[in-house]
Amino acid sequence: MSSREDEKHESSTWHEDDIDWDSVETQVDQIVDEHGADPGALIEVLHQAQEILGYLPMRLQVRVAEGLGVSVTDVYSVVTFYSLFSLKPKGRYHISVCKGTACYVRGAAQVLEELEDQLGIPVGDTSSDGEFSLEVVRCVGACGLGPVATVNNDDVYVRITPSRISDMLQHYEEDGGES
Ligand code: FES
Repeated sequence: MSSREDEKHESSTWHEDDIDWDSVETQVDQIVDEHGADPGALIEVLHQAQEILGYLPMRLQVRVAEGLGVSVTDVYSVVTFYSLFSLKPKGRYHISVCKGTACYVRGAAQVLEELEDQLGIPVGDTSSDGEFSLEVVRCVGACGLGPVATVNNDDVYVRITPSRISDMLQHYEEDGGES
């Protein structure tokens, strides 16, 4: 298991005491049933299961594994391989960076790198204080204005550069995102 996977695993128990597990597991079972308990539907099942809580805590992964008759290791491997899956709840401020072709050629990778550095988290992760999380998305339909980043799908930052990241984060750290 890589160090990134270790980090993700250790942090997967956030807020889990407050979850209504009976309800969550019933919903997972329904999703599994809708796919005929087909192990080949693992990614689709996980995708739908993630919509229940917004992330995939270990107990939910175990339920999926049991339902599809696959090993928990297989489920965990898929969850940690694909960046669209998360083992942690999203942060209070969820930052999405477009890495579609147009944004990529205009420097989205450098923007992402700067965000990872300043937040101290990799893509797909949430800061330890629960304030920020980071994900990569594909084209958000504003290609001419790239690179594009959004916060909580509300605030849109266009033609963003690494040098603007500090001000952008400070806005949320200091003002709670209120403008
Ligand atoms: S590629 Fe980023 S908005 Fe289209």
